[in-house]
Amino acid sequence: MAVERVLSGMRPTGQLHLGHYHGVLKNWLRLQHEHECLFFVADWHALTTHYDTPEVIEESVWDMVIDWLAAGVDPANATIFIQSRVPEHAELYTLLSMMTPLSWLERVPTYKDQQEKLSNKDLSTYGFLGYPLLQSADILIYKATQVPVGEDQVPHIELTREVARRFNHIYGREKGFEEKAEAAIKKLGSKRAALYEEMRAAYQENGDEEALEAARAMIEEQQGMSMGDKERLLGYLEGGGKIILVEPDYKLTPASKMFGLDGQKMSKSYNNTISLREPLDAVAKKIKTMPTDPARIRRTDPGDPAKCPVWQLHEVYSDDKTKAWVQDGCKSAAIGCIGCKQPVIDGVVNELKPIQARAAEYAEDPTLVKNIVAEGCERARKLARETMREVRDVMGLNYS
Ligand code: TRP
Ligand code: SF4
Repeated sequence: MAVERVLSGMRPTGQLHLGHYHGVLKNWLRLQHEHECLFFVADWHALTTHYDTPEVIEESVWDMVIDWLAAGVDPANATIFIQSRVPEHAELYTLLSMMTPLSWLERVPTYKDQQEKLSNKDLSTYGFLGYPLLQSADILIYKATQVPVGEDQVPHIELTREVARRFNHIYGREKGFEEKAEAAIKKLGSKRAALYEEMRAAYQENGDEEALEAARAMIEEQQGMSMGDKERLLGYLEGGGKIILVEPDYKLTPASKMFGLDGQKMSKSYNNTISLREPLDAVAKKIKTMPTDPARIRRTDPGDPAKCPVWQLHEVYSDDKTKAWVQDGCKSAAIGCIGCKQPVIDGVVNELKPIQARAAEYAEDPTLVKNIVAEGCERARKLARETMREVRDVMGLNYS
């Protein structure tokens, strides 16, 4: 299988809560053991909506990185960095803006949706319109092949794919492409060259996707071949020109929607969250005061877990035995709501305890955290510089 590179970002706009943990971070933890991963703090993206309250961003950046580390994102397995410390993102964003039709950005659904939703803010800015293109630059600059995102972000990845395709179409047509591709085939050695020709024909003549995948994998694994030749061979497989920017796939985060204290999706804007740094006695208090099935007015009134937000938390935190106890006990009024909530309190507390202990260690050692990020930025920057060299080259900017 071809090597996958995973990239994802998060906006630093406040404290992380259990919704982030179950919805995003646990997925990152799994991915970091399976693929090369880059995770970054999207501080410029945060500025598109918080340009008038930059202090929120400043406060959130380091806490967010600490929460990632405390949750188990491992700097030995994943590159952790900050978007604004890799200014190449901005350069690519500018260059991509030259060839991205305005209508592509205007029709991204989040543009109008968010403007309406955040109507208390003036979001008729150039930066907000450009939000998805900046995201495209984030992704394309690392030639990421996989982007784990929630459903709402899918249109941004679709846009990224279109931008990459257009870029390759415009700038991947070098003079004498076919001759150069044919010469690169020879460099594969006779056996592999024959295999390449065979697989290319299987794809181009019969649409054999497996052959395409196998050929891509072979090229990527080829030792001692220049980037340029590899890209020619990859582009030649599909017919067109050189593939400079890679079209990413999106990976929908498995729908593990975390419900909040009121039964709605857990979200800061609903004021129904439990933050990762929530003091544990406050956790217990929040759960104890959660609403339950309104039918249970007296302790002797039976209820229905399906109508109770506490049940949604049992679904996350309780084993089958406890869940059966809740179902039976609630419907027959054998248990009270206070008793029913206790296993949920225990579950959340047990989950948060080790995270908070690790967070405290990192919080006490800001130098360690800054070093981890500095190293990550350095690594990310190296990759970004390589792509920018190629991009400048094909866009005619490498004159001296
Ligand atoms: N827009 C994303 C969000 O709000 C954050 C983000 C910025 C991102 N750049 C990215 C996610 C690149 C994935 C890849 O969640
Ligand atoms: Fe909800 Fe449990 Fe009370 Fe039933 S017993 S209403 S599930 S808290």
